[in-house]
Amino acid sequence: MRQQLLYDKQQRFHGMQWTSLAPTRGKTDLILSGRRGKMAVHYVLNEGDVPEGGHVIVNIGGREIGVYLIDGQYYALYNYCPHQGAPLCRGIVCGTTMPSRVYQYEFGKSGEIVRCPWHGWEFEIKTGKSLIDDKIRAKSYPIEIQDGKIGIVLK
Ligand code: FES
Repeated sequence: MRQQLLYDKQQRFHGMQWTSLAPTRGKTDLILSGRRGKMAVHYVLNEGDVPEGGHVIVNIGGREIGVYLIDGQYYALYNYCPHQGAPLCRGIVCGTTMPSRVYQYEFGKSGEIVRCPWHGWEFEIKTGKSLIDDKIRAKSYPIEIQDGKIGIVLK
């Protein structure tokens, strides 16, 4: 009953829906939202919904956001590539070659890079920064954990 009330309240005020990369789950989860100043924290997932090294895409009021778990820390990226608008979070998660001497190739940041599915631009999941130009960024969002719920902070 309490869950249904919270769910109804959330739907009325925020119109959010829960989605994931696993369509078979098809689950509409309890979503709690709160306001803190001009920022809203949208509690859209439970800890444990995102596997280590994996991610889940949620939809908050029509805005798709990928929630990633890397080394026990959560990160949120807007599912929109700043190049031409591809669904960035549908891209593969990989690593990259690190700065090194000529003819030396060092691989690093494994599991910390997302590669856009359309043209292959790569972004750091932790910061949203493009690997080719610091001025290009995928939008990222702060994460807040409370009582086992993962909250995405939106302005
Ligand atoms: S749309 Fe993402 S690299 Fe072109």
